[in-house]
Amino acid sequence: MLEPATLTPHDEKALQALIDWWDEAGIELDAPVTRLKKQTSPAPAPRSAPTRQPPPPQRTATPAAAIAAGFGEPEVQGPSAQEVAAKADTLDALESAIREFEGCPLKRTARNTVFARGNRDAKIMIIGEAPGRDEDEQAKPFMGPAGHLLDKMFASIGLGEDALYISNIVNWRPPGNRNSTKDEIATCLPLIERHIALKAPEILVVAGGVAAQSLLREDASISRLRGQWRDYSLKNPDGSDSGTSIPCLPLFHPSFLLRQPASKKKAWHDLLALDARLR
Ligand code: URA
Repeated sequence: MLEPATLTPHDEKALQALIDWWDEAGIELDAPVTRLKKQTSPAPAPRSAPTRQPPPPQRTATPAAAIAAGFGEPEVQGPSAQEVAAKADTLDALESAIREFEGCPLKRTARNTVFARGNRDAKIMIIGEAPGRDEDEQAKPFMGPAGHLLDKMFASIGLGEDALYISNIVNWRPPGNRNSTKDEIATCLPLIERHIALKAPEILVVAGGVAAQSLLREDASISRLRGQWRDYSLKNPDGSDSGTSIPCLPLFHPSFLLRQPASKKKAWHDLLALDARLR
C-alpha cells in the first residue's frame, strides 16, 4: 500500500493525477491504493506563461459570417509558409514569422496566433490539431477541457507542464471549431515541421489523427496508429528530410477521449509505453 506521507510533493501530485486518471478511465485496481486526500494537496498552480515567450498582440477577429457570406474573401498574400519557415533559424524568429504570416486564411477569423506553451527545453513535444475557442482567446494551445485532460494524462506518468512543450499543426482557430481542411493543414505543415526541427525534442507525441497522419505521412486511422512507435524524420529548412529521426508516439486526441471515455484504457496503455521509453 502506498503511503502519501512517504512521498515527496512531486510524487504525491503525480500519484493523485494517476489515481484520478484511473478513476476516470474506469480501471479497477487489483491492489489497494491509498487515495490521497484532495484537501491536503496544494491548490493547483495556475498555468504559467510559456518560458521566454512574450505575450502575443491581440487581434480583432474578422466576423466569420462575413467571410462565409462571401465578403472579405481572403486572398493569400506574401511569402509561402515554406519560404517563411526556411528563413527562421530560432524558435523566436519562427514565432515572429508565423505571427506575421498572411498565407493562411484562418488568420482572418482568429483573434490570436497560437504558437506554443510549456518548456522550450522539455524533452517531449506534443502536437495537436488546431486551437479552439479557449486557445484562441488565451493565445496558447490546449487551454480548454481537452487541454485540461491532456495535462492530467501526462501528469499521471509524472510529466508536468515543465516536462512538456506543446503546439498544434495549425496556428489559428478554424471558425466555430470546425475541423481544419486539407488545404489549411497543407498550408501550415511547413511551419510546424520547422517548429519541430528548431525545438528538436527527444520524443514527439502526436495527439489525434490529423497530427499523426500529416506529420507521419500516414493514411491509417488514429485507432490503428495509436501506441505504435514511429520514426519522425526532422526536416531541413527547405522541408526535405534531414536524415535524423526521433521517436514519435501517436495517441488518441484528448477531445476524442472526452467524447469516448471508454477509450481511456487504451490511452493509458499508450502513456505507459511513453513512460517505459523515458525510463
Ligand atoms: N485541440 C487541439 O488539437 N489543440 C488545441 O490547442 C486545443 C484543442
